[in-house]
Amino acid sequence: MQAIKITDKVYWVGAIDWNIRDFHGYSTDKGTTYNAFLILDEKVILIDTVKKEFFDEMMLRIKSVIDPSKIDIIVSNHSELDHSGALLQTISACKPSKIYASVMGAQNLKENLVQDLPVEAVGNGSEIIIGKDKLKFVESRMLHWPDSMIALLEEENVLFCNDIFGMHFASTERFDDELEENTWLYQAKKYYANIILPYSKIVTSFLAQVKKLGINPKIICPDHGLIWRKNPARIVELYADWAAQKSIKKALVVYDTMWGSCNKMAASITDGLKSAGVTVKQMSLHFSHRSDVVAELLDSDALIMGTPVLNQEIYPSLADLLCYLKGLRKQGLKGGVFGSYGWSDFPLNKFEEDVKNIGVEIVAPLVKSKFVPTENVLQECFTFGKTVGEKLC
Ligand code: FEO
Repeated sequence: MQAIKITDKVYWVGAIDWNIRDFHGYSTDKGTTYNAFLILDEKVILIDTVKKEFFDEMMLRIKSVIDPSKIDIIVSNHSELDHSGALLQTISACKPSKIYASVMGAQNLKENLVQDLPVEAVGNGSEIIIGKDKLKFVESRMLHWPDSMIALLEEENVLFCNDIFGMHFASTERFDDELEENTWLYQAKKYYANIILPYSKIVTSFLAQVKKLGINPKIICPDHGLIWRKNPARIVELYADWAAQKSIKKALVVYDTMWGSCNKMAASITDGLKSAGVTVKQMSLHFSHRSDVVAELLDSDALIMGTPVLNQEIYPSLADLLCYLKGLRKQGLKGGVFGSYGWSDFPLNKFEEDVKNIGVEIVAPLVKSKFVPTENVLQECFTFGKTVGEKLC
């Protein structure tokens, strides 16, 4: 297990988690990496650690470059356990003289690990001299935790940005120039949609603050996925677009089905949307994970949700998605609701209210089908889709 050289004085010493498939309800079907970085100057710095189970892998990579006891300082940019889980073992093995975190990071590390952790808080904008170069710390609060901060290696112009600009993507390649953009773009978008989306306004102001500070890194090193060295401006530009929640006249039809009625209704709604000139994505929750639905929602401006009635409630997969979407707070959605039932249709009215309550502006009246949809109901579905589509023009 070797470290990977990024510049003459910066190395990747993280771990590759090929097998993780669920990250807090997010389907990590491509695995992930926990990126940690070693800086070799007069002082030796370790930026972040890895998930506890990957301590040995990180240490082997560190040992391929330097004796771990030479590490003087550990910087923890964020206290979540995928980056600090191995911190206590790393402290025992390396005995650094200093551990730095943001003010809130220091508090969180103590609460998460041990109260007497000898961690020192660094203020927003503070710097430490590490030899010929220095590290500057800037808080990135709520991106995506209140304790998050970034660290800039100033002369080398390398930015260590923790979770932002990352992606859950395990690969043998470490750099953006080793893969085509179409290999990683969906994973970066999915990561933004599932983790960063609720903080989009903060992303916009953070990008403005970084620009104002004159930070224009040559290399961006996030804590998950690829390191941006070919064109770091590309991921910054994507974040600016995603944070602005720019849509592309696109509608997402998401539903589940018991005996196929909602499936037929969804197909007619999709046809209606298409007839209005809208790009449509139709996703059944039988086959699509909530986190992939959210990735498709990121650049959509309409959300249409459909459910069968089961035991006088909506279908469980739709209830799950509603809960998830409520937390992610996607802005500016228009849409509506459809559903099938046998004898009680009132859960569908409540469903429409629930969809409204997650921030969707209802722009077409609810369509219901008693048992299997008739030709008339399918025509209603087509009109419903066309009506929503026309509202996006
Ligand atoms: Fe990758 Fe918020 O931890």
